[in-house]
Amino acid sequence: MQHATVVVSGTKIAEEISSNRSEVWRLIQQLRGLGVDVAGHPATGYRLRSVPDLLLPEILRPLLRGTIFDSDLHHYYKIASTNTAAMAAAAEGAPHGSVFLAEEQTAGRGRGANSWQSPRSSGIYCSVILRPALPPSDVLVLSLAAGLAVKAAIQQIDQRIQPDLKWPNDVLIDGKKVCGILTEMNAEATRVRHIVVGIGINVNQASFPKDLPATSLRLTTGSDWSRVDVVAALLKSLDREYRQLVDGSETREDILQRFAASSSWIFGKKVRIEENGGAFEGTTEGLDPRGFLQVRTGHGVQIVLSGTVRER
Ligand code: BTN
Repeated sequence: MQHATVVVSGTKIAEEISSNRSEVWRLIQQLRGLGVDVAGHPATGYRLRSVPDLLLPEILRPLLRGTIFDSDLHHYYKIASTNTAAMAAAAEGAPHGSVFLAEEQTAGRGRGANSWQSPRSSGIYCSVILRPALPPSDVLVLSLAAGLAVKAAIQQIDQRIQPDLKWPNDVLIDGKKVCGILTEMNAEATRVRHIVVGIGINVNQASFPKDLPATSLRLTTGSDWSRVDVVAALLKSLDREYRQLVDGSETREDILQRFAASSSWIFGKKVRIEENGGAFEGTTEGLDPRGFLQVRTGHGVQIVLSGTVRER
């Protein structure tokens, strides 16, 4: 990448990595298989046609200097789920601010029993470990703040886009899902041991199955996005949200107010709530002080704790 667009001989690359030309050829083939655009062959030398949009720690670390996410970055070409990996690492003592990124997930997990489609190198699959001195009851607010961070990151790159936040954790563009967030935690009754915030963003997907109300940033703007730029903007913005919450410069109420102001779902939306195998209908009536959604029904106001919210 330091010699992008220049032809570099196989011999020179072999020297640099203390190997031989046939090993270089094998590695180049492997890189091509991962979508890296390398022209040339052993006789002519190799040329990196374009810098790959891979979420490599060496590329991201300098962009994240000064945030809590700049020291412990893990990158996988293929993994079952970055959330599963991050939860396991956190249980083994991985530090606050650890980041797990994958080019592809084979068992991406969504909220409830849902799965998360995670095709290679077109989306962002990112999980971070946080160890805040917060009670478990504040974790929902932190998770809502993660939605605000995603919205800010998208708008920082393209101000024309107006993402809508759907409680608790979906980011929508034109009514279609562009991002989902899965927040998991390990806690005692009064103390959080660790939290993993897992964020999936549809970035360069060119299409989705007809029955899936999903979109990507590329489908929204008509051109490819740099996933490196999106991850960097996302983690900087998440760092900001996190610091404001834990250092008290923003109260929980501030965050809930900002969430409500960024969402068309919090006040006056006619919804159907599916929760614990049952369902009820009503009209949304704000967030309660803990961040749960309030819905006015024929039997008074009901609090939605974890259900799926649909417009009716
Ligand atoms: C949802 O909307 O249901 C939440 C989707 C969360 C998907 C992300 S992708 C990165 C991280 N790893 C996972 O297995 N899930 C989250």
